[in-house]
Formats: sequence, structure tokens, C-alpha cells
Amino acid sequence: TAVADERPRKQRLLVVANRLPVSAVREGVDSYHLEISVGGLVSALLGVKEFDTRWIGWAGVNVPDEVGQRALTKALAEMRCIPVFLDEEIVNEYYNGYCNNILWPLFHYLGLPQEDRLATTRSFQTQFDAYKKANQMFADVVNKHYEDGDVVWCHDYHLMFLPRCLKEYNDKMKVGWFLHTPFPSSEIHRTLPSRSELLRSVLAADLVGFHTYDYARHFVSACTRILGIEGTPEGVEDQGKLTRVAAFPIGIDSERFIRALDLPEVQNRMKELKERFAGRKVMLGVDRLDMIKGIPQKILAFEKFLEENSHWRDKVVLLQIAVPTRTNVPEYQKLTSQVHEIVGRINGRFGTLTAVPIHHLDRSLDFHALCALYAATDVALVTSLRDGMNLVSYEFVACQASKKGVLILSEFAGAAQSLGAGAILVNPWNITEVAASIGYALDMPADEREKRHQFNFKHVTTHTSQEWAATFVSELNDTIVEAQLRTRQ
Ligand code: G6P
Repeated sequence: TAVADERPRKQRLLVVANRLPVSAVREGVDSYHLEISVGGLVSALLGVKEFDTRWIGWAGVNVPDEVGQRALTKALAEMRCIPVFLDEEIVNEYYNGYCNNILWPLFHYLGLPQEDRLATTRSFQTQFDAYKKANQMFADVVNKHYEDGDVVWCHDYHLMFLPRCLKEYNDKMKVGWFLHTPFPSSEIHRTLPSRSELLRSVLAADLVGFHTYDYARHFVSACTRILGIEGTPEGVEDQGKLTRVAAFPIGIDSERFIRALDLPEVQNRMKELKERFAGRKVMLGVDRLDMIKGIPQKILAFEKFLEENSHWRDKVVLLQIAVPTRTNVPEYQKLTSQVHEIVGRINGRFGTLTAVPIHHLDRSLDFHALCALYAATDVALVTSLRDGMNLVSYEFVACQASKKGVLILSEFAGAAQSLGAGAILVNPWNITEVAASIGYALDMPADEREKRHQFNFKHVTTHTSQEWAATFVSELNDTIVEAQLRTRQ
């Protein structure tokens, strides 16, 4: 109709992230099965509907032959995804190596590889070269698909070199970069051999965003202390080029969770869970099986709680969903055996012939099963040692409108800054404190639970992923206009 024709066209947004929202699993020579990828980045960005979005990223699979590449490109095009093909060697040096054995632990305050981790680490330079090469490959694909007026939004620690590559292609491109992890104190970033080059590459972007004000401040002080560039109230300015730096706390598509709770399938699952755990309080942990998530510490705190509170032993159960991730990185393999060992020991110690205190699952759940689980939970335990934001805490709150369960939340997760007033904040390293908080949460009176829940529910339903993306993109558009005005003056 004429009215529809007059509607302004949605702005084209190219989202560039290492991982596409769907990962491919090869089924035959030229056929692939696509699965939704896990992680906070994907779950937030999938909720963004306001733009005409295309995704550019790696499909999580090695496709060496052209026939396979063509087939996968076609399958992904239906989902508005454009693949970047990375061969096995690049994946090993760039993704397993530089991204996940160096940058990820460093940004979460776990330091650079030492001793046994160093033995499995090829030289920094080899891995950094692969990192730059991979970023250039992403840039080539972006450049091929870029149209005038597009906004290019680069995501996360995998692509810190990308803003620079893109601006070298076309300095008129609107380029934003957002980090989904913490940005650590400048004293930590200083230890990285490639510290300056990475900072300079990020500064090529027009807008740089973080989850919290603290991360943004750490980034600006790293630029000052390492590059000698002064921060301004708006960001960082170097030789007349201003890079805006700001905090944009991410959110979730809360409506999607709230709506799902009314579906018969989810209701049935909730009923099953209620029957299965009748007479027991349900505690829940949902994490990728990653050292930053503090899973061993959490389970040890639960053990301490059982040890000190014998009257709770057969009245509470901990369900820990541990989604396997980055399984080719040795640190992650070690963590899996460590967690299994602790869970086995505790179940042996406190289990009975008919029940165990911990149900540990090494796999992900589908969306409906997850919603039912969140809704059936009395106490959620999000005890990351460090976490950029942690959206599991948001998802739990969104599903708790009727139960009003308690959230125990690490003070080192970005979410502590937004959900702190409603959650019980803990230091995840302090097992005694976490154990005491479990007792406090389980005994919390209904009116206190109600008050805490209302606070968090309001936050989660108003600070959504839609709003997050809209704010970032609109600021990026403004940044460009301001820059044009500045150069005209
Ligand atoms: C975190 C990162 C994401 C990443 C996700 C899953 O949320 O910030 O960039 O995609 O973990 O990790 P993976 O290595 O499987 O992509």
C-alpha cells in the first residue's frame, strides 16, 4: 500500500562477530545442520529487530572445499548470515590460541599463560600474526558486502584489529566496536606484548562501547598510560581524531522469555519439574563450562552449606547446567575433569539411595526447557569470578514473575552494577560467604523476595537488548555527524 511504501527504510546494519548466531555442523559432503550458537553476545543480538541486519562471522566449522563453501553460504543466506571461512590452522592460532588462551583469560584477570599453559602456547608473535590475518579476512568480507550508508558494528575481543582494517579500506565507513568482556585495569593490559597495537587498532573506530562505566574508564586509562594519549570527557583524542568511548549496558529480549512461559510445552515441563523435585528447594546454575564462571568454587560453597546445615541435606538440590565450550583449548579440558571430580565426591558424600544433591549436566538445553527451569527455580547462583555482564542473571529474573526466587550474584559480574539492589551480592572467591548466602536466600521471607524481585524485574524489562542496540547505533550515527561538523569548522 501507499502507506507502507512511505515508511522509512530500516537502516542497514552489518554486525560483525567472530561467531555467527548459528553454528554449522557438517552432515554430508554439501549439507549442513544449523544450530543456534550459545553465549551472551548471540542471545542479546538476536533480540535486535529494529535494523535491516546482516551478520558476518565464522560458522564454527572448517569447510576446505569450494562445493561445501558454496552450499553453506547458501544455507546461511536464508538467515541473513554471511560466512567468513577460516582454515584449521588459523582457527588454532587465532581462535584457540590468541583469542581464548591469551586475550580471554587476560581480560578476566586470569593473567597471561604461565608454566603449563605456556608449554601449550606457541609464540605470541605467531598467534598475534594469525589474529591480524584473521581480522583482515573478516575485513575483506565486510568490505565486499558494504554499501554506502551502512553502519558496521564490530563485536568483541576477537576483532580488536578490525576497526583499523576497515578504515584502511574506507575511512568514511561508520565503524563501532563493542566489547562483551570486561576491559581490565590498565596494569593488567600493560602485560600484553601487543598492548599498543591492539589499542591503536580499536581507536580507529568512531565509537567504542563497554558494558560498564568501569570498563570504559580502564580502557581510557590504558590509552593514557600505554600510548600517552589523553582522555577527554567524550573519549580519547589523538592528533585531532576523536574516538568516542562510553558505557552501553547490554540487556535481553525479556518479552521473548515472558511470552514463552505461557506456552503449553513450557507449562508441562514446569509441572514435571515441580513433581520431580517436590518437597525440595531448587537451586540453579547455568554457565558455559568456562574458568571465568567459577563453577568449582560455586559447587564447593554448596558443599560447605550442606556440611554446616544438615537439616537442609535432603531438602535442596543444585541443578548445574554446564554448556561445553572451546573444547580444543587444554584449560577447558582440565576444567571439565576438575568439575566432574568435585561433583562426584559431593554426591558420594551427601547422596542417598534415592537422591543426589547435585545434578550436573554437560550440555545445553533448548530454549523452552531453559525457560521452564528458570521459572521452577527458587535460588539462582551466578558466581562468575569475572564476567562482562552475565545475561543468565537477566534471563532468570525475566522468568520469575510468579515465584519471585532469589538471585545470588557475583560482585565481579557486570550485572552486579544493574541488578545489585535486588540480588544478594557475593565475592565468589569467598566460599564461606557464598555458603552463608545460600542459607540466607533459602530462608528469605516472601515480602523481602518480592521487593528484591520487583526491583530487578523492572530493570530487566526496561533495559532490553533492543534499547541497547538502538542507543549504540544512534550514538554511532551522531558521532559521524559531529565529526563531519568538526572537519567543516
Ligand atoms: C562469550 C563471548 C562471545 C562468544 C561466547 C561463546 O559470550 O563474549 O564472543 O561468542 O562467549 O564462546 P565461543 O568461543 O563458543 O564463541
